[in-house]
Amino acid sequence: MRTPIAIELTKTSKLSSVDFNNIPFGRVFSDHMYVADYNGKEWINPRIVPFGHFMIHPANLALHYGQSIFEGMKAAKQHDGKPVLIRPEMHSRRLNASAVRMCMPEFPEDMFLDALHTLLAIDREWIPTAEGSALYIRPYMFATGEYIGVQASDVYRMIIFSGPVGPYYNKPVKLLAEEKYVRAARGGVGEAKTSGNYAASLLPAKLAKEKGFDQVLWLDAQEFKYVQEVGTMNIFFVIGDKIVTPSTDGAILRGITRESIIDLLKDQGYEVEKRPVSIEELVEAYHNGSFKEAFGTGTAAWVAHVAEIQYKDTKMILPPVEERKIGQLAYDLLKGVRLGTLPDKHNWVVPVRELQIPV
Ligand code: COI
Repeated sequence: MRTPIAIELTKTSKLSSVDFNNIPFGRVFSDHMYVADYNGKEWINPRIVPFGHFMIHPANLALHYGQSIFEGMKAAKQHDGKPVLIRPEMHSRRLNASAVRMCMPEFPEDMFLDALHTLLAIDREWIPTAEGSALYIRPYMFATGEYIGVQASDVYRMIIFSGPVGPYYNKPVKLLAEEKYVRAARGGVGEAKTSGNYAASLLPAKLAKEKGFDQVLWLDAQEFKYVQEVGTMNIFFVIGDKIVTPSTDGAILRGITRESIIDLLKDQGYEVEKRPVSIEELVEAYHNGSFKEAFGTGTAAWVAHVAEIQYKDTKMILPPVEERKIGQLAYDLLKGVRLGTLPDKHNWVVPVRELQIPV
């Protein structure tokens, strides 16, 4: 039998101070967080405590050698007010795939689900309801070993916190196809949701922003030829009557929203090709008028239209959003499943358990 989650409720809720009509992404945090520790053999001491700072040792291995992984997932309120989690088992599995790659212990799925349901039962009032908003949930695990030396830590901490968020991108994004830096190479850690992948993207993203772009469109590390992803989201293109997305090759994050969109579009009778997509194919399609749409998908980004893509001297300006049939359909289908206004054919939506929280 697992140890029950110990619960310490906050004495000073911040809920009433939040302007739910104006929520910046990632700056507002709910009242509580879940914490558990790995002692070298098993996960112990699961607890929910008031959200806040914690102490860390100066020689913390995660800070020095990067054993740090995370997930991004969402909870929402359906049209009838019922709080739901979206595909929590998939996030548990992806977290554990990242853990294996980064030589970290897996976190048992039943503990993960218990943690989420208990945390959400306590902080359910933090789930926003405005259009485009959701409760963003951030599970993460990091090494807590306290010594110098490149080796896997023997001890770890798992934390889950959450916060209400608005849209990650407020308008269609402008992308720069990156020709100098790479995000990840095959055989590396690109498929893992590990902090270093995001750190590696910061300088190229900063340089792209200085040139007026919102993000970088990553190309493969061998030839700078094939499109990978955006770093904040996976990417889809509509070329002629075909919907295509780069096939995962070990260097691209296996996006859960990516999978959902592929299934939802297939349910509507569309075929989605998962295959290598070269940047030259996009340029050619742009010139012959068949490049119709591009959109990104991710937990944070949801479904985000791409306004333009720059590659070398070619600026591919895509049609206005009103003409985006597929991207808009993808957005509407996912929204409908999340809100419960469309059938949840694949059982992705998991109602938050009704739990009695001891006060
Ligand atoms: C997510 O989509 O959840 C991510 O972790 C990406 C980041 C842009 C917030």
